Amino acid sequence: MDPADLYQSLLTIDTRPEPFSVGTAAELWTDPHVARQMLAFHLDPEVSAASRRHDFIDRSARWLADLLPAGGSALDLGCGPGLYTQRLARLGARVTGVDFSASSLAYARAQAEAAALTIDYMQANYLEWDAAERYDLITMIMCDFCVLSPARRSALLERVVDWLRPGGAFVFDAYTLAAYARRTEATTWRHQAADGFWSAGPCFELHATFRYDDAAVTLDKYTLIEPERQRVVHVWHQFFEPDALVAELAEHGLRAEALLGDVAGAPFDADADEFAVIARAG
Ligand SMILES: C[S@@+](CC[C@H](N)C(=O)[O-])C[C@H]1O[C@@H](n2cnc3c(N)ncnc32)[C@H](O)[C@@H]1O
Repeated sequence: MDPADLYQSLLTIDTRPEPFSVGTAAELWTDPHVARQMLAFHLDPEVSAASRRHDFIDRSARWLADLLPAGGSALDLGCGPGLYTQRLARLGARVTGVDFSASSLAYARAQAEAAALTIDYMQANYLEWDAAERYDLITMIMCDFCVLSPARRSALLERVVDWLRPGGAFVFDAYTLAAYARRTEATTWRHQAADGFWSAGPCFELHATFRYDDAAVTLDKYTLIEPERQRVVHVWHQFFEPDALVAELAEHGLRAEALLGDVAGAPFDADADEFAVIARAG
């Protein structure tokens, strides 16, 4: 290979785009091979990766159900394989789950059918889908709010306000500035001959982590090189100062009722990696 071409390729891989200017994490969830790996993470009860540990989810679902009126309705945005939706349905809620991952929803639907649970699953992008009804509770769990650009967050919050019943709650979690302070820039690369996370075949993963100190944003940029194809997956994360997030919610007509440590009701801890918010419409 011409060294000039190699140099140019590596320079492109190492280039830092403007925050949220390129890509979304859609490929992380919808590429069939990657989606299978993700589903395995979701379903491992001991692993807090695509979903949290299942003992946490048990506690979280009970805490979320307590926010609902008897027989109330819940909408879970990015419901994955239905770990929260199933539990909420068992606890008496009328539940809708939205996710764009076909494999996660296939699993969720099969589980609901096997357990004779009525759960409305929609395979859709929640930034484009529109709800036909209004909900007492809307959840977005595992810090998915943080992968959205400011414009997408704004679009999402406008929808959430429309989809909530008066007095309904939007409950979600987010990364703290303390977590941002612990992120470091790095570039790594590795080769997997077969059956890696990204591909069934051989694949080089070049992973660059960039920090954007002015915006408290990070980018994990994965350049994936296989013999027959090359792709780049951009995973953006916004980290939040709680007051700034409260102000952002207020701009969209949502009142932050409580800041907590997690979506199971733990107390807020500014030094932890994550926090949770209960926001009410009106
Ligand atoms: C980190 S996982 C969390 C899943 C679930 N909330 C949980 O905690 O078990 C994120 C989920 O959101 C889905 N997702 C991400 N962006 C989405 C979008 N724009 N529209 C619909 N689903 C989305 C992914 O497919 C994935 O199932």
